[in-house]
Amino acid sequence: MPLPAKLILDWARGGVQGPGVRESIKALGDLQGLFGDEPAFCAMDPAREIYRVCVVSSVPAGEEGGLFWGVTVLQPGKVGDEYFMTHGHFHANRTRAEYYATVAGEGILLRMDPERHTWGEAMAPNTLHYIQGEHAHRVVNVGKEPLIFWACWGSDAGYDYAAIRKSGFGARVVERAGRPMMAYE
Ligand code: F6R
Ligand code: ZN
Repeated sequence: MPLPAKLILDWARGGVQGPGVRESIKALGDLQGLFGDEPAFCAMDPAREIYRVCVVSSVPAGEEGGLFWGVTVLQPGKVGDEYFMTHGHFHANRTRAEYYATVAGEGILLRMDPERHTWGEAMAPNTLHYIQGEHAHRVVNVGKEPLIFWACWGSDAGYDYAAIRKSGFGARVVERAGRPMMAYE
């Protein structure tokens, strides 16, 4: 008899169970300084959950040659007219790429190259995005339901959040006349 799989996925709801799984929650307060409308941000509950991430780390972070696997569940909502979004990051190692596969919801994948050229790509159930290692990436939920996407990336990719904290992306995703729109800086 084969042994049972050690990791079990709940594709639709964005869950994974098994050894080496770590869940982290990002609340609104963790995203301070990232949204454009500071007064609207301050009027909201900083404890409100914006997204949660489950990561399977089968090897230690930083180890060359391994893969990480994870899922993000990003809630719907807005700060002022700007949709809820992930923090966004470059990979610390700019040669390490990543896949994002969407299973539920409606989103925009914001990508930014090293020259700050920024664009959005539609995320919807069954879309698959390949993100080059040198592209910063942030996900924006422009729908009314949680946006759920799975990801796979190199265990030595790392995270460079500082560059985004300092200068953000070259565009924001905002609601205009009930529709999502890219607002360039
Ligand atoms: C890993 C990756 C995703 C994100 C997750 C949360 O390289 O891109 O697992 O880490 O969607 O977004 P951040 O990390 O920007 O808060
Ligand atoms: Zn990444």
